[in-house]
Amino acid sequence: MKLLITGGAGFIGSNFIRYLLKNYPDEVLINFDKLTYAGNLENLKEFEEDARYSFIKGDVCDANAFIEAAQGVDAIVHFAAESHVDRSIHSGHEFIHTNVFGAQVVIDAVKELKIPKMILVSTDEVYGDVDAPKKSKDGDPFKPSSPYSASKAAAESLAIAAIRTHEAPIMITRCTNNYGPYQFPEKLVPLFITNLIEGKKVPLYDGGTQIRDWLYVSDHCSAIDLVLRKGTLGEAYDIAAENDPEVTNREITETVLALLGKGNDMIEPVSGLRPGHDQRYAVDSSKIRSLGWEPTVTLKEGLVSTVTWYQDNEDWWKRVKSGDYQHYYQQHYQTS
Ligand SMILES: NC(=O)c1ccc[n+]([C@@H]2O[C@H](COP(=O)([O-])OP(=O)(O)OC[C@H]3O[C@@H](n4cnc5c(N)ncnc54)[C@H](O)[C@@H]3O)[C@@H](O)[C@H]2O)c1
Repeated sequence: MKLLITGGAGFIGSNFIRYLLKNYPDEVLINFDKLTYAGNLENLKEFEEDARYSFIKGDVCDANAFIEAAQGVDAIVHFAAESHVDRSIHSGHEFIHTNVFGAQVVIDAVKELKIPKMILVSTDEVYGDVDAPKKSKDGDPFKPSSPYSASKAAAESLAIAAIRTHEAPIMITRCTNNYGPYQFPEKLVPLFITNLIEGKKVPLYDGGTQIRDWLYVSDHCSAIDLVLRKGTLGEAYDIAAENDPEVTNREITETVLALLGKGNDMIEPVSGLRPGHDQRYAVDSSKIRSLGWEPTVTLKEGLVSTVTWYQDNEDWWKRVKSGDYQHYYQQHYQTS
């Protein structure tokens, strides 16, 4: 199979490319990525010389460039997006452009080139928060709370319309919060780990009472892989660890503190509610589990290995935090 992965230089996209190259020796992968602040080719350095892997610097909003890149592929997995909720609250413009318009460009290419399969990688945040013990599930109405989740819900609507109107061969995945290696240290888990290694405090919103269903990134990759090979066209699959008991952000923070030998005095409380801060996400993942998927990494195991990864890869995140990583691809890929 020849696959086009958009956003493959980001956190989940690069983990997915690594996952496929390790598990499918005969597959050919093209990574199409704009290399925004969140895209980092150092994530895939070990594959630079691998004949099965190639990189194209491009913007999913550029229809001509995308059509050219997508010629002859068997499937597209569309990760590329602006992904940080806090940034979207500050300014939503780029989120609408990339996440909505960009999704339509990819959908149009699938139609025009008759590409047999596309996965739109979406998020559980489209459902908005949900009161315990209820879990959101496919078919529930969308209730996005941030410009980020609204843009992802809009992309899904475009995909659903293309499935209905053109029988476009699209599947949608909606996963809960991910964590693991190569996550940009603006997101909660890597921000907290790297701050603590640097001796800085960790900012915790609203007492950390919010509930997120954290899933280790390799389990998200195996779920998308399964949908790619065994999913039914036109369907959407909710992906979740379904951690039991559920964990609050405060509990995640305390686990990270303990793993790094730090006390709770390193928590810097951020008072006042974050605008639109969803209290609890929970989704029912029985549909993908019926295809044979289940998570393989417990939350404790995943946090231990994530902390260890950031301890062992200080060069990577220090270069990311300082912005030095951007020089890397300027040198290697002669981009401006
Ligand atoms: N991180 C999570 O917890 C999570 C959970 C569920 C779903 N998702 C979804 O998974 C996908 C990947 O998330 P992530 O956390 O890896 O994001 P990320 O921010 O780490 O990576 C995004 C990647 O997309 C690229 N990109 C951005 N705009 C682009 C454009 N216009 N053209 C081409 N490339 C562009 C960036 O350069 C970067 O490499 C997103 O669609 C996100 O909504 C993320």
